[in-house]
Parts: sequence; structure tokens; C-alpha cells
Amino acid sequence: MKNIRPCFWSILQALALLPTMALKDSQMTTKRFSEEPEFERPIGNHTFFLGREAVLGCAVTNLAKHKVGWLRAEDQTVLTMHDRAVLGERYSVSLDAPRTWQLRIRPLRAEDRGCYMCQINTQPNMLMQTGCIDVYVPPDIVSDDTSADVAAQESDNATLTCRATGHPPPKITWRREDHEPILLKKMPQLREFEKVESYVGSSLPLWRVDRRQMGAFLCIASNDVPPAVSKRVILNVNFAPTVKVPNQLLGAPLGTDVKLKCYVEAYPNTINYWIKNRGEMLLDGPKYAIREEKTSYKVSMWLTIRQFSASDIGTYNCVSTNSLGKSEGTLRLYEIKLTSYSEDFTNQISVAGGLTEAAKGQTANLLSSRKLLCFVLCYLSVTMLT
Ligand SMILES: *[C@@H]1O[C@H](CO)[C@@H](O)[C@H](O)[C@H]1NC(C)=O
Ligand SMILES: *[C@@H]1O[C@H](CO)[C@@H](O)[C@H](O)[C@H]1NC(C)=O
Repeated sequence: MKNIRPCFWSILQALALLPTMALKDSQMTTKRFSEEPEFERPIGNHTFFLGREAVLGCAVTNLAKHKVGWLRAEDQTVLTMHDRAVLGERYSVSLDAPRTWQLRIRPLRAEDRGCYMCQINTQPNMLMQTGCIDVYVPPDIVSDDTSADVAAQESDNATLTCRATGHPPPKITWRREDHEPILLKKMPQLREFEKVESYVGSSLPLWRVDRRQMGAFLCIASNDVPPAVSKRVILNVNFAPTVKVPNQLLGAPLGTDVKLKCYVEAYPNTINYWIKNRGEMLLDGPKYAIREEKTSYKVSMWLTIRQFSASDIGTYNCVSTNSLGKSEGTLRLYEIKLTSYSEDFTNQISVAGGLTEAAKGQTANLLSSRKLLCFVLCYLSVTMLT
């Protein structure tokens, strides 16, 4: 652009002098200006992906006998000279577009990030312009700086960490693998948890860790370059068993099957068993059915006593132990005497039916309050069985 004005003036002068001056002179003047090479447009800054090809274009007009070279700006290393590459096979130069010297670098490495100079060997001063390339690198998780599986005692602090490389620097997002929200405390001193879908940051602080936080977490590293990558980090929270008994007092009519239930929470895994009258350990068999169901750190224990008889009356304990401790729940089993109504209660269904009758009030006046209580207890033990 800056050459337009003098050029314009010289043309004007030439035109003005045309009648008096030799035509040859004016032609020479014009020619001298037009001979100077010029860059047509800036190279610009560009972004390319690692492993692909980078292309920078240097558009030159009026090159004439001059040569175009590409240099690495940082250390002035000559990469190409006119139409030849002079440094290594990753560099090449092409003239695909008219008057445009294209520097090609392939396959692109992270260290190729930087600025490149297009130079024309004009004298006495070389013409040059620069353009820069950024090399985008997909995220990668650094295993050595990322938590393997983490184990913590309940109420201790735990931190899950994840580090990733990539360019631009990747964002680290934490999620639970089971898509449940993450329970977090905003500050270490808080008791209350907050439910969040995800957490952004390379370390996930878990203050006074709770059993409910146990599970598989995903550390997901992403930047503008696909694909995002993830790593699974398992958090285990260790704690001694705690036992809950939903019904501690159980009444049942003789001859029925009675189901006793306990809920255990513990980690690591527990050994669970039932004892009767603080003595014998009960075994699964014709008399007792022993069942267990485990989901993560929760275990449900059931003991079914078949054909409840007088000898089954007594105290039962569900016992749970793991490496951190032992806990037990106590249940007391007693007989419900059905007296005059016993013939109606030969099976569970008639018991439930009996209660329905009573609830309707048809026979309410016939029942003493003690008998009504008996009905209710029967009903409760029946619902427990189902
Ligand atoms: C190109 O990038 C370089 C280095 O990052 C910077 O100095 C320059 O201002 C950029 N030029 C343009 C046109 O953005
Ligand atoms: C857990 O971290 C908090 C905050 O950094 C600190 O005050 C507390 O003492 C730590 N607790 C344990 C058991 O290390």
C-alpha cells in the first residue's frame, strides 16, 4: 500500500513530462517501482492438530529474480529455499496457489509450535513477514499423577487427583460412574453435603469422607481437541459394621414360618451369621433359611424359621464382622396365642382376613382389647413374612 502514492506521483510526473521527455525514461521509472517484490497479504496465525499437516502461505508479487525462503523465527533456521526443502523431510514447500510459497510441516509435532518467517532476498534489506502456528494436542491422562483406587477410613479426608496433558490445557471434570450425583462439602467444616452432577478441578477434595461417597468416579479430561479421555478411580470408604433391626420384637403363631430381618452397613466385606440364645450359630437347612443380599456397602440379612415351635421362642442375633469391627442386632421371638380364634388362623391368609374383618368393626365388640392387640401383632408378623 505504501508504494501506491510514490508510484502514483511518478506516473503523474511521467505523464506530465511525456511530451518533453523521452518515452524510454518514463518507462524506466515505472518499471523500477514495479520490480520491487511485495507481500500480498499477511501470513496470519493458524492452529493445527498434532500429527497432521501445518500449511503457512507466503504470497508474493513481483518476485522476478528474487528467491523466497522460509525460516523458523526463533532460531533463524532456514527450512526451505525457493522451491526446495533444506532441512529434513518433515518440511516442504509448494507453489500450489499462484505466487504463494506454502511451507508445509508434516507430521506436526508439539515443538513445531512457534513463529515462521517468510523472507525475500531483496537488497540491501531483506523483506520478511512472520506468521505463527499453534499445535493442538488432544488430552492425555498422566497415570503417575492420577489416583489409583483410593481407600480412606470413614471421617478421614480423602482426595482424588487426576492430571492430564494436552494443548490447550485440558479441563478435568469428575463424575460418578453410576450417574448418581457426587456428594460434596463446600467447605471442610460443614456437615451437610451438597449434590452436584460434576466437579471441575484436577483434585476432588472429600473432607471427612462418608460411606455414601463410596464408588467409582470418572476423571474426564477434555480440551478443544477430540477425543476426551477418562480414567476410573474407585473410592472405598472403610468402616466397621453397623446393624439395624427393623423389628426387634416378633410375635408369631405356632406352626407358621417367621422371617427375621437385619440391615448391615460395612466396608470392606463382612462375614454375617445368626445365633440363637447367645449360643449356637444357625445354619441354612431344613429348619432355617438364611439369605443375604448385598448392594455396595449394604447387606440385608434374613433368617426364616420354618414351622415356628415352642423351642424356637427366644433371642436371636444377627452378627456382622469385618476387619474393622463387629456389630450385632438383637431380635426377640415370642408366641402369639390365638385362643378361641385359632381355628380361623390355620394359615397366614386367614390371619390377614381376620384382621380385615376386625377393622370393619363387625366383630369389634366381641373382641377384648387384648385380642385386638393379638390380631394386630399377627398381622404385623404376617406382613413381615411377605
Ligand atoms: C500472531 O501470534 C504472535 C505470537 O503468538 C503474536 O505476537 C501476534 O500478535 C499474532 N498476530 C496476529 C495477527 O494475531
Ligand atoms: C481434614 O481437612 C481439614 C481441612 O483441611 C482439616 O481441618 C482437618 O483437620 C482434616 N481432618 C483430618 C482427619 O485429617
